[in-house]
Amino acid sequence: MKKGLICTGILAGFLLSLMVASGIFAKDVVEFTPSYGKVTFNHKKHAETLKIDCLKCHHTWKKGETSGKLCKDCHKAKAEGKTLSAKDAYHKDCKGCHEEAKKANKPAGPIGCTQCHVKEKK
Ligand code: HEC
Ligand code: HEC
Ligand code: HEC
Ligand code: HEC
Repeated sequence: MKKGLICTGILAGFLLSLMVASGIFAKDVVEFTPSYGKVTFNHKKHAETLKIDCLKCHHTWKKGETSGKLCKDCHKAKAEGKTLSAKDAYHKDCKGCHEEAKKANKPAGPIGCTQCHVKEKK
């Protein structure tokens, strides 16, 4: 019984590594373009180089899942009940992690507004 579980775990891990290696992401870099300024999110770097667990961000997916609903399917322009607005959800996750890393004196991503949001040059 236990052996079966371990095997399933190894298999799932193997499949995941295969998918990551072959590039399961439609886009390596995701760009957000709010009017406040463009945010460039290197998805591949965060997931693969920094090895952040998929579920840390995609918090509603089950272990092993590599696709599913995306943030804005649930986090809308305005908060709905317990569901934060998209802006607050991204800020809490993105900026939150960068702030924690900085506090721990580890390499961190940008925290300042205009370090993350870059205004298009006109
Ligand atoms: C640091 C946060 C973070 C991590 C870690 C992360 N993602 Fe994402 N991912 C996002 C964000 C933000 C988007 C943009 C789309 C959205 O609004 O949800 C996204 C989009 C996606 C998409 C849809 C767009 C595309 O490129 O195909 C898939 C599939 C995906 N992620 C899979 C994964 C998998 C699999 C892992 C783990 C190997 C992972 N993500 C790790 C934040 C993250
Ligand atoms: C299927 C719907 C759904 C999706 C998809 C989803 N969320 Fe959420 N999220 C929720 C709900 C509901 C809550 C509030 C209840 C809870 O904490 O689970 C929440 C809470 C949060 C919180 C607050 C957690 C806390 O500690 O208070 C953050 C931050 C967050 N989401 C970010 C994201 C990001 C970033 C993505 C995309 C990578 C995402 N969410 C995708 C439904 C979703
Ligand atoms: C769980 C932690 C974590 C989360 C969540 C996270 N980041 Fe990061 N991010 C990092 C770390 C660590 C670095 C520093 C990498 C380095 O310097 O090598 C970084 C670097 C960056 C950088 C600097 C440029 C680059 O690609 O290295 C940008 C921009 C960035 N993050 C944007 C985002 C955005 C936007 C989100 C949310 C969608 C996000 N990050 C979510 C940990 C995180
Ligand atoms: C780590 C990166 C990061 C940092 C730092 C950051 N933001 Fe954001 N911000 C985002 C992301 C990602 C979004 C979501 C964009 C989207 O929904 O398309 C966002 C959304 C917004 C929006 C909503 C725009 C819209 O049209 O809905 C505003 C306004 C904003 N940020 C202002 C700020 C301010 C002010 C600060 C500094 C106090 C700040 N941001 C710091 C990443 C960041």
